[in-house]
Amino acid sequence: MGKKITLSVIKADVGGFVGHSSVHPELLETARGILGGSSLLIDFHVTHVGDDINLIMTHELGRNCGEIHQMAWDTFLSCTTVAKKMKLYGAGQDLLSDAFSGNIKGMGPGVAEMEFVERKSEPVIIFMADKTEPGAWNFPVYKMFADPFNTIGLVIDPNMHQGFDFEIRDLIDNRKVTFSCPEEIYDMLVFIGAPGRYCIKSVYKKGTDEIAATSTTQRLNLMAGRYVGKDDPVLIVRCQSGLPAVGEALEPFTNPHIVSGWMRGSHHGPLMPVSLKDSNPTRFDGPPRVVGLGFQLADGKLHGPQDFFDDPGYDLARQKANEIANYLRTMGPFEPHRLHLDEMEYTTMPDVMKRLKDRFEKLD
Ligand code: F6R
Ligand code: MG
Ligand code: MG
Repeated sequence: MGKKITLSVIKADVGGFVGHSSVHPELLETARGILGGSSLLIDFHVTHVGDDINLIMTHELGRNCGEIHQMAWDTFLSCTTVAKKMKLYGAGQDLLSDAFSGNIKGMGPGVAEMEFVERKSEPVIIFMADKTEPGAWNFPVYKMFADPFNTIGLVIDPNMHQGFDFEIRDLIDNRKVTFSCPEEIYDMLVFIGAPGRYCIKSVYKKGTDEIAATSTTQRLNLMAGRYVGKDDPVLIVRCQSGLPAVGEALEPFTNPHIVSGWMRGSHHGPLMPVSLKDSNPTRFDGPPRVVGLGFQLADGKLHGPQDFFDDPGYDLARQKANEIANYLRTMGPFEPHRLHLDEMEYTTMPDVMKRLKDRFEKLD
């Protein structure tokens, strides 16, 4: 067996430029400088989607490696220093702690990591979204790995026909469960149809530990116990040769499904597929966006990126997303454009209720 490569994507919002819309180029340069000087990495690519910096890294040190996580943490700290000097918006916002404690998980930044032996050819896609939350991946990942109307390979590729195992996380009770698909899709859909609580963490080739996809699943507000923004998730998908073809992995994004996030993390809106250059959310701090970058891995080297949604094939999806956005916006502060009370990141309800409590009269 060949040696294992780890692909780590670690992301954080450590200051917006301007407001919550984008990342200042100096922060990206700072990150590139630090990762470029590291002897731990085989290769790296630093990018941003909206106001989130994404560190895409390859190495041989495995998942949850303290040294890699420490380096990512230190990188975000250095970027925060630059952000503070420039008084960028929300400088350091995703770094919930002052001191690094060995594993970056639970400290604010999002982490998606997978370890595998490179195949003869190893195409991967890294999806990165802004102004939404990890559950935003449930719908497209289900389509990629379990829906034959999206992925014809499930029907006609003998290497895919057996299906996939889905690991689901319960973000409220902090537990996990695995479903074997297609046999258990009806049971699984009961859970993943509620993406604010149940998220697809990883997908494996049926009955094996061969990883096919993995995502970031932390929810900052649950960790911090206060509003700290939505979590702007990342998803890594390996493609081809018994896994979804690149085009099958991209296909779900032609239907801009409705996700939670957008303005003040408190609204429903369509997830719009965009190119990197169009990844800065502006309208009502949105609408939520997704970028898909493709890489060919070769001995850990990241050949790419290929900016997949920079393609007229997604023009109609963008138009549809704009139409849905327009329609939802007409509802202003009303549900279901505004999220349900339990899901809102901001609320004045306790204050208003306190002030008005004596005006409420009991009815018999
Ligand atoms: C959503 C987001 C933005 C902010 C909004 C208000 O995830 O980050 O929509 O919530 O711009 O920001 P503050 O409260 O910082 O003025
Ligand atoms: Mg922000
Ligand atoms: Mg963001």
